[in-house]
Amino acid sequence: MTTPTAPLTQDELKTLVGQAALHYVVPGEIVGVGTGSTVNKFIDALATMKDQIKGAVSSSVASTARLKALGITVFDANDVQSLSVYIDGADEIDGQGYMVKGGGAALTREKIVAALAKQFVCIADESKLVAALGNFPLPVEVIPMAAGQIARKFEAMGGTATLRMKDGQPLVTDNGQHILDVRGLQITEPLAFESQVNQWPGVVTVGVFAHQKAHVCLLGCADGVRTIT
Ligand code: 5RP
Repeated sequence: MTTPTAPLTQDELKTLVGQAALHYVVPGEIVGVGTGSTVNKFIDALATMKDQIKGAVSSSVASTARLKALGITVFDANDVQSLSVYIDGADEIDGQGYMVKGGGAALTREKIVAALAKQFVCIADESKLVAALGNFPLPVEVIPMAAGQIARKFEAMGGTATLRMKDGQPLVTDNGQHILDVRGLQITEPLAFESQVNQWPGVVTVGVFAHQKAHVCLLGCADGVRTIT
């Protein structure tokens, strides 16, 4: 008689995909590293092969601290011309690799490091896979003095924008800016939507990653890691 095994927890699925992402790390090179709880699992796994890589370019103060604490050299993005691979999580990903990101407020640096990389490998548990983007509140990093007018533009599109708070104050990003979280949008054309919102004065970065979409998604599922390309 076989004993039924308990389904893997979300945390275990994150560990699984964090470890699976090591297969995409090119020995001898610098790897692009994202931000978030799933990426933290990847960073922990990366530490096991730290002697085989040159180091990392990081997308946040938090990831930099974790990488350095594990003895991984962190390079400034300006000192790197290109990366073979960028590994990061997502708040939502659809079947085409389009994503919503920025739940951890690191979207601007994530997009910058992703733009350096030839390949974006998204690591996520299966709860992040969606048919269409828009359920997760869309993070938008904004210059504080423009927050009001940007919020009104989203309202005109049918969305509701709220300023992200932390400890009773507006959250301040690694870049010294604020985050609007926009609910109620249906993002049916991610490429056009990203281009449109990027042009609004005061928008630093919109959390739709369509121009920098994932080339591969390693999705942690009950029966293991599913690779979506
Ligand atoms: C941070 C991000 C993260 O990749 C996203 O929020 C997913 O995080 P987690 O792995 O903790 O679910 O975009 O800005």
